[in-house]
Amino acid sequence: MTMPGGRWLVTGGAGYIGAHTVRALRARGDAVVVLDDLSAGLTARVDDDVPLVRASVLDEDAVAGALAEHGLDGVLHFAARKSVPESVAHPLYYWRENVEGLRSVLGACARAGVERFVYSSSAAVYGATTGAAVTEDARCVPVNPYGTTKLAGEWLLAEVHRATGLRYVALRYFNVAGAHDARLADRGRENLVPIVLDAVVRGDAPMVFGTDYDTPDGSCVRDFVHVDDLADAHVAATALLDGPCAETLNVGVGRGYSVLEVMATVARVAGRPVEPVVADRRPGDPAAVVADVARIRERLGWRARHDLDDIVASAWDARVSPSA
Ligand SMILES: NC(=O)c1ccc[n+]([C@@H]2O[C@H](COP(=O)([O-])OP(=O)(O)OC[C@H]3O[C@@H](n4cnc5c(N)ncnc54)[C@H](O)[C@@H]3O)[C@@H](O)[C@H]2O)c1
Repeated sequence: MTMPGGRWLVTGGAGYIGAHTVRALRARGDAVVVLDDLSAGLTARVDDDVPLVRASVLDEDAVAGALAEHGLDGVLHFAARKSVPESVAHPLYYWRENVEGLRSVLGACARAGVERFVYSSSAAVYGATTGAAVTEDARCVPVNPYGTTKLAGEWLLAEVHRATGLRYVALRYFNVAGAHDARLADRGRENLVPIVLDAVVRGDAPMVFGTDYDTPDGSCVRDFVHVDDLADAHVAATALLDGPCAETLNVGVGRGYSVLEVMATVARVAGRPVEPVVADRRPGDPAAVVADVARIRERLGWRARHDLDDIVASAWDARVSPSA
């Protein structure tokens, strides 16, 4: 098992999930250097005593230099673009940032002799799932360029592993939400929980896209995982990198909640009425996406500790915190 003392480059460590993972690694006693171009990241999320290299992952020399200069022996690669609509409008940009960006970081690892790697993948690689909990062996048919670039990244890792023995874990995150605190919280407005919280704060009615799906209440069902649990999954995953490893793992709770259930939870937690407006289905939204989590339990002994109430309460606290 990887003992405290690991030395990691965290690309995208000024972002939402990367910063939570930096916190969890440091809590274990590991050393961390963040590399981020701050295109979406915030310096406020990076502790003063954590070195911050302001560079793009596309700059292979800068990544190789950071690995060598700080004597690092592993990488957690979060840096990427993550907006589905943006990826549909700008596929070339997404291939450059997400696929060429990964290639560049792997090139830097090869130059620096770094052979431990954790990759941020996504449930978006699966595309339209059937509704049953999806296992890692399910066929991957992404339905947008964002998902395609994440899957291409997994293929690249597998090919480099076969060629060089690179040790890697690809974590396929489901719907990440919640916050450890206001400083680290998600400031984006792309995911359901922050969108609904924003609407509540403004006194607007949040939208539900479709209530005629084949689900218990007709709205879409997703698997929501607390970002602190996800960060812990990364810390646990680093233990696999002590030996030969090419692993792909779902990270979810293994239970779905509907969009309407999320809104009801927000209403309860915030103590405010939430009366959603029903709109048409959005093209490409699968009815239900839920993780099968048997493999991550078996390989890492990891399971999510937080439920939807915890997720929404932590996100709400961060949203209404004076420092938000
Ligand atoms: N948030 C989710 O629900 C979710 C779900 C599945 C997968 N993911 C993946 O997790 C990772 C982190 O997502 P997040 O939610 O923390 O997003 P985020 O936008 O908060 O963080 C991404 C970070 O990467 C940085 N970055 C982007 N392009 C860069 C580049 N070329 N060079 C250097 N830094 C760059 C940004 O400045 C930002 O700090 C991404 O790879 C994303 O695809 C996120």
